[in-house]
Amino acid sequence: MLKKDNINILIIGGGGREHALLRAIKEERTWIYTLPERKSIPEVLNISSSLLENWSMLLKELKRKNIHFVLIGPEQPLVEGLGDFLRENNILVFGPSARAARLEGSKLFAKEFMKSQNIPTAPYTEVTSFSQTLEAAEKFSPPYVLKADGLAGGKGVFICQKKEELENRARQIFEEKIFGEAGNKALLEEFQEGKEMSVFVLTNGEGYTLLPVAQDYKRLNEGQTGPNTGGMGAVAPLSVSNKLVENIENQIIRPTIQGLKQSKYQYRGILYIGLMVSQKKPRVLEYNVRFGDPEAQVLLPLLDGSWMDIFYQVAEGKLPSLRWKNIYSACVVLTARGYPEKPLKGSRISGSIHQGASDKYFLHAGVGEKKGEWIVNGGRVLNSVALGATLEEALNKAYQQVNTVSWEGMHYRKDIGVMI
Ligand code: AMP
Ligand code: GLY
Repeated sequence: MLKKDNINILIIGGGGREHALLRAIKEERTWIYTLPERKSIPEVLNISSSLLENWSMLLKELKRKNIHFVLIGPEQPLVEGLGDFLRENNILVFGPSARAARLEGSKLFAKEFMKSQNIPTAPYTEVTSFSQTLEAAEKFSPPYVLKADGLAGGKGVFICQKKEELENRARQIFEEKIFGEAGNKALLEEFQEGKEMSVFVLTNGEGYTLLPVAQDYKRLNEGQTGPNTGGMGAVAPLSVSNKLVENIENQIIRPTIQGLKQSKYQYRGILYIGLMVSQKKPRVLEYNVRFGDPEAQVLLPLLDGSWMDIFYQVAEGKLPSLRWKNIYSACVVLTARGYPEKPLKGSRISGSIHQGASDKYFLHAGVGEKKGEWIVNGGRVLNSVALGATLEEALNKAYQQVNTVSWEGMHYRKDIGVMI
């Protein structure tokens, strides 16, 4: 058995979520490795991101550096089976197997899985061509929801108000192949009305522990307008009625875990379930096999305990119980000009991005370095995170901190925390 206290850790993924993971465990570790390289975070060591293309070299590097525990942040390596490969080679991994990761990697697989467990979700039809999509559309009414089957970097869902828009999107997926093979198949799905909510459970594939509910703000602009993004901000915990939690657990979470167990899909990690709720009835919009970004940024600081311990135990197949602080957290995402379509990189960031009070700090999502200065190097650039005794206090602090940095074209939403 590995001794947890003298092994090193690698965190895979270069976004704000992974910086939040790093922060959550850094008190307990002198050295943490990250992949890709993160120049703006001085306290970590780096492993070349090219090793993600060559797993046997990655494994050699892990052994050489005495790294025996890997936290995988994003979905892509999980869907590709990196977790299985590392586990087969005696590395502990926080993250599900490739078979289980199909819950996110294939929307059609997720639908079949839900059907087998009787889990409520929107009715759908599988489509594989432009003409089939139009034919299937006769059975639905607008708005039409068209989803590429495979991973599309969060861009694979189209809500189309009119038939013409659906035609354009179907053409993009099947003829222009904008998502490549991820768009070989797609789903046309019934539009769901209601309130969207994200629930997260920690699971070892046999049981689960629920995390507090978080609210994510997906649209680019205030009042839920503008294009969908990876997430413009988040707050937690959200107050949710006991009845709704009970329904979510009974109708969705338990059957999901039961399905994993029955099918022997090994799952040691976090499962994120996107729900649409109407009249206390939850339906699954999607499964994700990882922490949300920016939900991780607001959920991780709420723990009263050691994330290092928890991640480690889950990776070993155990299921620790969790305790939460009686505080609130808020995250405001600061983006580059042109995000999400075409973020403009290279602008110089002014202000200090290394402010680090325990209740108010920046997490780095897309920060690069040029001639000794910090520059914009991604669509989502910084996350302003703050904690408070009330949600209002957390939001005030996060927004105050926003005012201390700027770059050309910096954008953020001013209504994070307003309930939707
Ligand atoms: P997903 O990538 O599946 O989370 O979809 C992106 C967003 O599209 C979701 O967060 C919802 O806002 C929306 N969405 C997905 N499926 C549906 C649906 N069946 N009805 C209404 N909105 C949906
Ligand atoms: N916040 C949405 C996601 O992580 O997919």
